[in-house]
Order: sequence, then C-alpha cells, then structure tokens
Amino acid sequence: MAASAWYKEMAVYQIWPRSFADGDGDGIGDLRGVLEKLDYIRDLGVNAIWFSPLYPSPNADYGYDIADYKDISPDYGTLAQFREVLEGAHTRGLKVFMDLVINHTSDQHTWFRASKESGDSPYHDYYFWRKGRGKKPPNNWLSVFEGGAWDYDEGLGEYYLHVFAKGQPDLNMANPKVREEVKDIMRFWLDMGVDGFREDVITYISKREGLPNGFPLPIGTGLEHYTNQPSVKDYLREFRDDVLSRYDCFTVGEAPMMTPKTAKQFITEGADQLLNLMFHFQHMEADCILTDWIPTPFRLRKLKKAFSSWQQGLRGVAWNALYLENHDHPRIISRYGSEKYRVESGKMLAAMYLLQCGTPFIYQGQEIGMTNIRLDGVSQCKDVVTFNNEKLFRKFGIKGERFLRLVNRRSRENARTPMQWSAGANGGFTAGTPWFPVNPNYTEINAAAAEADPDSLLHWYRALLKFRRESPLALYGDYREHNKASRQLYVYSRGREGQRLLVICSFTEQPVRFAAPLGFDLLHATQLFGNYAAPETQSNQFVTRPYECRVYGWL
Ligand code: NOJ
Repeated sequence: MAASAWYKEMAVYQIWPRSFADGDGDGIGDLRGVLEKLDYIRDLGVNAIWFSPLYPSPNADYGYDIADYKDISPDYGTLAQFREVLEGAHTRGLKVFMDLVINHTSDQHTWFRASKESGDSPYHDYYFWRKGRGKKPPNNWLSVFEGGAWDYDEGLGEYYLHVFAKGQPDLNMANPKVREEVKDIMRFWLDMGVDGFREDVITYISKREGLPNGFPLPIGTGLEHYTNQPSVKDYLREFRDDVLSRYDCFTVGEAPMMTPKTAKQFITEGADQLLNLMFHFQHMEADCILTDWIPTPFRLRKLKKAFSSWQQGLRGVAWNALYLENHDHPRIISRYGSEKYRVESGKMLAAMYLLQCGTPFIYQGQEIGMTNIRLDGVSQCKDVVTFNNEKLFRKFGIKGERFLRLVNRRSRENARTPMQWSAGANGGFTAGTPWFPVNPNYTEINAAAAEADPDSLLHWYRALLKFRRESPLALYGDYREHNKASRQLYVYSRGREGQRLLVICSFTEQPVRFAAPLGFDLLHATQLFGNYAAPETQSNQFVTRPYECRVYGWL
C-alpha cells in the first residue's frame, strides 16, 4: 500500500493569473485580485494553489516566455504583493506552487540578449546557437508552435533553436552554468516560502547530442531527439540532490507523450524518485488524435482505458496527478460532457475524476462549470497556437468559418476567458475593459449564482473534495474498473480494509440500463452522491438519466 504524504492528500487549484481576478481595473487579472479571492479558494476545500507564470514576460506565450525568473510581472503586481499573497495563502492553510519554465526563456531575457551579442559571450552557450547548412537551418526540426524550430539572427549569422514559439529560445541544459541558474531560481522561491513547482514540459529539457535531423513528419519533426532523452533524469537528479531534497517541497512535471511505464522512471517512490507527480495527456485524447486540434468523436472506452492504465500502472509504486482542465485545453463540459446538461454532466465529470486515486487539480472556473466561448472571429484570438494553426490548417483548405468553428471547439482560447465571478458587468472580473472577452453566459454561469444555489456545481465540488479529504478509502483505496466494454458508462470501485465505493457515471443523455456488478449490493449501500434526486427505493438495477452519476458506499 502507498505510503501517506501531504502531497497525496491535497487538492490543488490552478490560477491562470491574467484571467482570474482584476484588482486594479486595468482589465488584466492580478495579485490584488488573487488576494481578494483567497477565501473563495480556501472554501472550495483545496489545499494549494498552482500559479501559471507570474513573472515578467513579453507574452509571446502568455507568461510561458519568461524575461526574469526572480520578479513579478508589472501586469500582476510586485514581489511585495506576491509575498502578501503567499502569506495570505499560508495563513489559510494553502500551499503555493510556482510554474517553473526552464526548457526555454523569453527572447527578451538578459541571458538571451547577451547570448546573441557575439559567439564569445559567456551566455552564447546558454542556448542552442548553430550555423546553418548553407541557406538551410541547422536541422529539420519543427516547432510545436511556429513553423520551423530555428530562427536566424542576422547580426550573429547563426540560428537559435526554439521548440516552442520564436520568442521562446530553448536553454542548453547540458551547460552546467545553466543548471546552476535553474538551481538558483529554485532556491530563490523556496527560500521565500514557496512550497514547490509545476515543471513545464520537463521531459523536453535535454536535446540529443549533435542535434540530428528528425524523422520528417507534417508536425512534430525532431520530437524523438528532444523528448525524454536520458540526461533529463541526470538533470532532475541534480536539481533534487542540490536543492529540492533540502526543502519540504513538491514537484509535478508536465510531460507530453508519457505512459505509465515511462512515468515510473521519474516518479517511482523511493531513493531514486525524481519528481512527486507527472501530468500526462493520455486521458485528454479521448476525442482527438495527438492534439486537441484534430478532433474525433468522443470515445469513452479510450478515456476509461487511459484512466485505468494509470490507476493500475502506478498502484503501490507511484502516485497519480488527476486533472480534466487547465489553461491548455478547451473546457471539459463542452468536450466530454454536454452544454445542454451542463450541471449534470459537470457533476458527473467531477465525481468521475475526483474519486480516483491521486492528487486532483482543478482549473479556475471548472468548479462553476464554465464552458467554451464562441468567438466572432480570429481577430479576437490571442494565442500563438491559434495563429500558427490558422496558417497550418489553411494548407489543408480549412479556413474562414470552418477554422473559426475549430477554434471555438478546440483552442486554448476557451480556457483563457476571464473567470465569471458574478452577473455584474464583465462577470465581475474587472471594473475596466477585459483584456479578452468574457463569455456572455456569465449572466447565468458565475460564482455568486453558484454560491447561492445549494444544488450548484460549486457546492458539489466542495462536497466531493470534503469527502475525499476525510476518507482514507477515497484517498488510498485500490481501484477496479467494471463494465469495461460499455461505451456509455464508466463504472469503477475503490476498496480498502473492507470498505468500498462504487462510482457510476453515464456519459450520454440516452437512458442506459445499469446492473450492479457481482458482489455490490446496492440495497445495502448508502448513496453518498447523486446528481439527480435519489430514487425512493433502491434496486440493484436502474436506468440512467442524462449524464447521471451515482456514488454508493459500503462504509
Ligand atoms: C506547456 C504549457 O502548459 C503551455 O501553456 C505552454 O505554451 C508550453 N508548455 C510552452 O511553455
């Protein structure tokens, strides 16, 4: 059985600061806004906040291009205000995690600016500067965000590598000086009292020596040479030994293309554990291929398989990170649920993942059931990925209205609309002009309305989180999937020391006949949660209502 630990029992709330709460009326979320909402976050029943980047940034990728790792963006406030937020969070029993983005910096970072002054600059080798092959870039790698992965600097006559946007040059982690800088940044925040880090695309931080050409593909060329290279582990070991192991802190790494097997190389508990948790993407691919932008019909069996393989794969050796939303994906109700049955499906999705074994993450607005926005045109968009895809999809004839439909369904823009606090102007997000449109459904979907309605999704999240926090069964119990072949129902049980939970989730508005698995007698169970009024007489069989969810307990 897994050893207990504080990071296993916590739940984490993610703040994407630009769209969370604007305290000074300039239309951009900020730390003053966060300070005002700390009670709201505490009352949700989470134990920690993860801040997407708060650092100074020219916003080529909204904060994931960092110009100074030891300061706060003037958009958000000051270091002094950050300290206030940190103290306010700690006073309320909330830990604080920073986003550590070390695969790349901003092209406005002083290191990068110095690196391109000359080949002799001590910073030159902080990045990947290379001569071209004649008129061609040094290799054929493609950027995840913007065309080729190399950009040419006239002054220097060399190319620099950017696996993400042009404004995000990759750091050369093989350079020991760069690793010292990373450790210094970690110490800076940990010494201030921060409790840990979410480590951005952590499996990309090492590139294959010689930077060889990749296998040519329409997207992702070069991936095999910059994903999960053996030295990633050496670097993480060094960060752990020299810094992290000296603090009582937490780390979760973000890792595209991770499987339970590869994740275990990083998060297996014991002497060689490199990170506490790993964010993977497999359960976010139940309605797409490789990226959100290549949609397929939703396939529940794919979703169940992803969840179950992680639940079972890590059992007893490592711990799961559970999430359904973050700043990189469309809203989950609009995706795996139903906007028509917004509250019902939102509740079902919440129970489906919060009652699994692992540490849950909740993205701002998820707890009130925010949905995708319908933007009027690409001119309203803000995200570099949208702009890149506009060019890319045009090549395949997808443009105009068709592309806009894809944006409204699949883009990260959907996660980045301002938080809907009230039915007041701009959803109560700002007294000024919001930097990005507020979803017009704020008049109906907002935190104040959810607070006032005892049947709201917000109260449901609170109740589930409270139950999880207080239940060793929900925290540490084992996991078993039932009705595996079903394309409509996701059914699983948790068990521990003779106690059991049965979680039944319907992913359709159609009625589905459910019969309790052998050995689970609903007549002798307590219904702990249900997103519809509980039936008067229990039976071992029932027909589900749209997106129905029931949780039975034998406690
Ligand atoms: C993952 C982050 O979550 C995403 O928002 C960002 O664009 C990329 N990494 C690059 O930093």
